[in-house]
Amino acid sequence: MLVHAIPTNATQEFAADVLAGLTRPGQKELPSKYLYDNVGSALFEVISHLPEYGLTRADERLLRRHADEIVDRLGGPVAVAELGSGSGKKTRWLLEAFCRRQQTSYYPVEISRSALVMCERELRDIDAISIVGFEREYLDGLLEVAAYRKSGQRLFVLFLGSTIGNFDRPAGVKFLAEVRRILEPGDCMLLGTDLEKSTAQLLAAYDDELGVTAAFNLNLLARVNRELGADFDLREFAHLATINREARSVEMHLLSKRRQTVSIPAAEVVVEFLEGETIWTESSHKYSIDEVVETTRQAGFRCEAQWIDEEWPFAENLLVAE
Ligand code: AVJ
Repeated sequence: MLVHAIPTNATQEFAADVLAGLTRPGQKELPSKYLYDNVGSALFEVISHLPEYGLTRADERLLRRHADEIVDRLGGPVAVAELGSGSGKKTRWLLEAFCRRQQTSYYPVEISRSALVMCERELRDIDAISIVGFEREYLDGLLEVAAYRKSGQRLFVLFLGSTIGNFDRPAGVKFLAEVRRILEPGDCMLLGTDLEKSTAQLLAAYDDELGVTAAFNLNLLARVNRELGADFDLREFAHLATINREARSVEMHLLSKRRQTVSIPAAEVVVEFLEGETIWTESSHKYSIDEVVETTRQAGFRCEAQWIDEEWPFAENLLVAE
């Protein structure tokens, strides 16, 4: 696979984001995208197999069941861009359906190089596929993919797995509007959204009994240690999952078990933590089906179809750029 590697000021950006997030007044925070280094991506892959976390399996079931219908609705030659491809496993069903009809280009956009490599290994056996990976942030990658598009080719953007849920609602609309601006009218997007479910189900999903989600969350501090030379003592922080009712989200935090001081040389900062103080690391917003139609309309899309999993409430939404 051809991989366009990431520009190399990544460490400085990480240091700047860590500095900003841990020195801001009030709630400390770290951007959730940094959860997905090689270790974090591998841990998320394990999370997707846990019995408590049904999200990824629901997503995959829907794609497997409805791949032909989705592809038939699109018709004609398409270039497929996927934002945050991960291992690419669930994308197989769609790509096979496309490739049965015609030669198809697939452009995974990923910030994790190891996920990109896994993804190409997983999918390269499909007949009539060509894969070009972009180790990029979503919008940077999509801009480059759009420049590759051949005339007469429609762009089909996949944004699966309810990754949109990491944005708060206003930021989600803004992000979708930015995607829309890169597209031409008639281009399409398949958006996966996790739907609202019970508190007990959500807490079990984001605080599993094996402790894989805890490891996934704590890896963010381990990463700051590895890449920025910090001295976080991982045993002095605990994984915390809470429901934010107002935001209709699950939040992950890292809770300081005692008063402590951490130095982060590459960010040139020393950070104090009170006992019980938390770092907010991720939010997963949950949606209602009607809300998805309205939200995506605000961003310049028409929601043409929705497929819903009954076992684990989750929706695939087919959007057309207007
Ligand atoms: C990959 C962002 C969809 O929010 O459910 C899983 C990440 N975090 N368990 C999610 C995650 C904790 C996941 N997304």
